[in-house]
Amino acid sequence: MPPRCTTDIDEAAAALRRGELVAIPTETVYGLAALASQPDSVDQVYALKGRPSSNPLIVHLPNPEHVSNWAAEIPDNAQRLMDAFWPGPLTIVLPARPGVSSRITAGQNTIALRLPAHPLCRSLLEKLDDAVVAPSANRSKSISPTCAEHVCRQFPIQDLLVLDGGACPVGLESTIVSALPGEPARILRPGMIGVDQLEAIVPLADSSMPLASVRVPGQQSRHYAPRTPTLWSSREPSAILLTRTDVGWLNCGAPLVASGPVIDLGNNPDVYARKLYASLYELDQNHLSEIRIVPPPETSAWQAILNRLGRATTIE
Ligand code: TXA
Ligand code: MG
Repeated sequence: MPPRCTTDIDEAAAALRRGELVAIPTETVYGLAALASQPDSVDQVYALKGRPSSNPLIVHLPNPEHVSNWAAEIPDNAQRLMDAFWPGPLTIVLPARPGVSSRITAGQNTIALRLPAHPLCRSLLEKLDDAVVAPSANRSKSISPTCAEHVCRQFPIQDLLVLDGGACPVGLESTIVSALPGEPARILRPGMIGVDQLEAIVPLADSSMPLASVRVPGQQSRHYAPRTPTLWSSREPSAILLTRTDVGWLNCGAPLVASGPVIDLGNNPDVYARKLYASLYELDQNHLSEIRIVPPPETSAWQAILNRLGRATTIE
C-alpha cells in the first residue's frame, strides 16, 4: 500500500497516538515521527529507515516547558540558544535525564532536542502536547525529503500517513549544537543557523578541538546521497563533460551551457539550500551517468551547503 497524504492534524495526531509512524513537515526537512513515549513505535522508526541503532534520534518538543522532561540540566548557554533560536532550525544537545530511553539516545548520556517552527508541525505537537522523535523521512544514507512527494518516493509501498505541509522553507537539516555543562558550546552538524549567528549569542568552541564527551554518530562521510554517482566539477568544466547528454549539472549562478540537464540554484545560499535536495531528487530521476556539482563559494554562509554536498559526492 502506498503512503497517504493528508493536511488534517487531527488525523495525524490520532495515528501517532495509535502508535503509528507519521511523516511530518518541519521548516528544515520532513521527519519520520513517532511518539517518543512509545518504545515500539520508536523501534519502527529505526526499522523503516534501515538506520543503525547506534545513531540517536532528535526529540521534537511542543514547547520549551518540555525540555526538563528530557534534560538533566539546562546550562546557561543552552538557555540562551533556546531563547534566541526556538522555535527554529536549531537542535541542542543536553545532558539526558536518567531514565530517558536508550532507544532514543542510542545509549549516550546526552539528548538532542528541537522545537520546530513549521506552523503545521507546531499545531500537531501542541495538539499532542507530547514529544515526537523525528529523523529525516528518508531511508538511511539517502537524500532528505523537502516535500511530501519525496517522502512518498522514499517509502513507495509503505502504509504511511504523510502530513503535507508543502515545501520546507529552509531545506537543510537543523544546525546541531552541544551545550553541555562545563564545556563551550560546539557545532556538531552545520546548518543554516550559522557560526556568526550562534557566536552572537554564545561563545563557540574551536571546532578543530576534539571533545571527549560527545560522539557525533550518523556523520558517516557518505550520506544525503543520490543513487546517480555525484561528483564535484571544476569551476570551469571541460568541454568534453559539457557536451555529454548523460551528465546533469547543479550550477550556482555563473553561466553554464551544457548538453545535459542543468539546474541553476543561483548564488543566494538561502535559496540554494531550500532547493538543493529537491534538485538532487529531480536529477536522480533522469537516468544520468553522473551528476556534476559546480562548487559554491567557500564562505561561511555556504558552510552547511558545502557540508551536505561533500557527503552527497563520491571521490573521483
Ligand atoms: O532538521 C532536522 O534536524 C531534521 C528534522 C526532521 O527535524 N531531523 C534530522 O534527524 O535531521 P536525523 O536523525 O536525520 O539526524 C539527526 C542527527 C544524527 O546525525 C544524530 O546522530 C544526531 O542528530 N544526534 C541525535 N542525538 C544526538 C546526541 N545525543 N548527540 C549527538 N548527536 C546526536
Ligand atoms: Mg537524516
